[in-house]
Formats: sequence, C-alpha cells, structure tokens
Amino acid sequence: MRHKLFEPFTLGSVSLKNRTVMAPMTRCRSGEGDTPTPLMATYYSQRATAGLILTEGTPVSPKARGYLWTPGIYTQEQIEGWKRVSEAVHNAGGQLFMQIWHVGRISHQSLQPDSAAPEGPTNELSNATVCFAYDEQENPGNVPTTQPKAIDAEDIQRIKQEFVQAALNARQSGIDGVEIHGANGYLFDEFLNSIINTRQDGYGDSIENRCHFLLEVVDAVSDAIGADRTGVRISPNGRFNDIPEDPQMEATFIYLSRELNQREIAFLHINDQGTFGLPSIPEGLIPKIRYVFSGPIILCGGYDAERAKDAIDQGIADLVAFGVPFIANPDLPARLEHGWSLNEADRDTFYGGEEQGYTDYPFYEE
Ligand SMILES: Cc1cc2nc3c(=O)[nH]c(=O)nc-3n(C[C@H](O)[C@H](O)[C@H](O)COP(=O)(O)O)c2cc1C
Repeated sequence: MRHKLFEPFTLGSVSLKNRTVMAPMTRCRSGEGDTPTPLMATYYSQRATAGLILTEGTPVSPKARGYLWTPGIYTQEQIEGWKRVSEAVHNAGGQLFMQIWHVGRISHQSLQPDSAAPEGPTNELSNATVCFAYDEQENPGNVPTTQPKAIDAEDIQRIKQEFVQAALNARQSGIDGVEIHGANGYLFDEFLNSIINTRQDGYGDSIENRCHFLLEVVDAVSDAIGADRTGVRISPNGRFNDIPEDPQMEATFIYLSRELNQREIAFLHINDQGTFGLPSIPEGLIPKIRYVFSGPIILCGGYDAERAKDAIDQGIADLVAFGVPFIANPDLPARLEHGWSLNEADRDTFYGGEEQGYTDYPFYEE
C-alpha cells in the first residue's frame, strides 16, 4: 500500500499532491539586481513533483541581505522574475511558498546600502561567522561579518512592513504563500535567543518579549495574505551562525509554538541542524511542540524515506522536507517512493555558478 508520505495533503488553503517538501536552499544564482533568472525557473520546475517547494531564502529588502546573488522580492524586476518561476512550477503541477528572509547581524558592509552596519538585535558582533560578500580587494568570497547596529523601535516597524510587502509581492508573483525565516541564526532567531538578545525595550528580557518581534511579523503578514498562506521556520537548539546555547531554549520554543498554534498558521517547519555537524534538537522536544501546535508540522534535517515515513506514522510530522537530496535528485519523491538509487550531491556547486550542479542532475532512468 502507498505510504501517506506520497499521498495528497491539504496545507492551509493549498492542496498538495504529496507530503514531501523541498527544503529552502540558497543557491546564489540570481541575475543582475538580484533578480530570479530563467535558469532558476528551470531548476524549480524540475523539482515540481515535490508536494511543496520552499524557495531559497529571499531577502525582503536591500538591508536584509547577507550573501551575494540571493534573489530578492522588493523590486518590480524581482517580482517579474519570480513570476517566471511560479508559472514554471505551476505548469509542471507543483506548488511553492517563498522563504522570506532578513539575515540580521549575519551580513557585511559591502552588501549594505551606503556600506552601513548590518541590522542586529544588539551591537554585539557574532564571533567566527562569515558571510558571502566582497573582500577588501572587492573580490567575492567568505568574509567575516561586520559589527552590527542594534535596530530601534522605528526599524522594527519598518522591517515588519518590509515582510508584509515581501509577502504581498510574493503573492503578486503568483507564489502560493510564504515561509517566514525564523531559523538558522538570522534576525528572528537572534531575537529569540536569551544570550544574544539583551534588549530592554519590550523585544527582549523575557520569553514573551523575545518572541514578540517574530509574532508581530507573523500577525502582520497573516493579515496581509492570510494565516493559511503563512508558515514559519524555526531551528530549536540551533547553533549555526554563532547562536549560543540558551538555557531558556526549550521554554522559548514551546511558548512560541503555542502562540503560533493560536494564530492558525499554514505550517510550522522545524529544522534540525544535526546534519550541519551541530547539536540536534534534544530528544523529546518535538513531541512537546506537537502537543502545543496542532496545525501541520514539517520536519527537516537528515531525513531519508524510512525516517520520513516513521515521523509521519508516529504523528510528530505531517510533512517532511528534504534539502541536499533535492539538490541532487530533481525527481526525489519518485525515487523515495520506489526505492530507486539517489544521485550524490556535489558540494562544490552548491553556491554560485550556472547549470552545473544545478539543473544538470539526471532524472532516474532504469
Ligand atoms: C546549499 C544549502 C543552502 C541552504 N539554504 C538555506 C536557506 O536559504 N534557508 C534555510 O532555512 N535553510 C537553508 N539550508 C538548510 C536546508 O533547508 C536544510 O535544513 C538542511 O539542508 C538539512 O536538510 P537535509 O539534511 O535534508 O539536507 C540550506 C542548506 C544547503 C545544503
């Protein structure tokens, strides 16, 4: 009998043909003006047999950028570029949500308008963290992040508005919904962390206040495009991008998940950074989140077909997202369903470049 992983699922207001999700993955291949290219449309449409595609992290404004060649969603040209992507995916029978993103303090002045300081929760620099920007000789490469400037109340309201506009722009470009990037050490994850976030202005200082910014943005985006088209990604216990261990981690993510449950968002996407070689989500936390969040849960991080089916059978996941396996296998759902062999991903072509390692991975042939 066909496993539920390969059966249709209703996610908010979108009907998916199966429960496999393509995880959001930055590939650094945007064109002039950080505009999505026709090649990106080909890449995503090749993967349209996923029940849902989550696009790569997509900056909501010029200040939200932390890497070169990441396609944005704040200019008319970018909206037109994304239209090509959404049309190609829909024509191939797929559905897609855009991951909308602000990198917070993980940025470099060479990427910022007027070489300004990146926007962080505080002025504290992240240690030993790099981003992909221009070095002193103006060559692209991994460079240490620049000292950030703490955003103030006005910035918070502006950034909230940028997320709203990004979500509206995504919908205008035909994209089915958005995933707010609350994971992996970027802006919202920085606000959630009790060691990094030492603010005293109603956006720090307690669990409720550290969740305040993300929840305000969720509310504003939901008001603009519908909660049933708004998802959120988190990475509990994540350490990527110099997120320190947080004694309040578990209580924070349970509180946040309970709040998100009340908002009836389209999904909660939980990323486990264990496959980054970092600590995993502690045993028992995902069932606790499941207990307080009754909407659709997507789990991600190191899944294969067996683990994915098991997570769905246990009831801790409704859908499962695959990252690296989707880079190398455009037809991943069929391969997982039939137990066909998988192509190996080539890490050297993850970021930047053209077709190689992007649109030239073969489909399965017997
Ligand atoms: C090349 C690459 C780029 C990624 N970019 C993003 C991103 O833009 N946003 C995000 O939330 N996660 C990003 N991730 C993390 C993936 O979404 C996923 O969580 C991770 O690869 C673990 O899943 P996997 O074990 O199935 O690969 C990226 C991962 C890779 C390999």
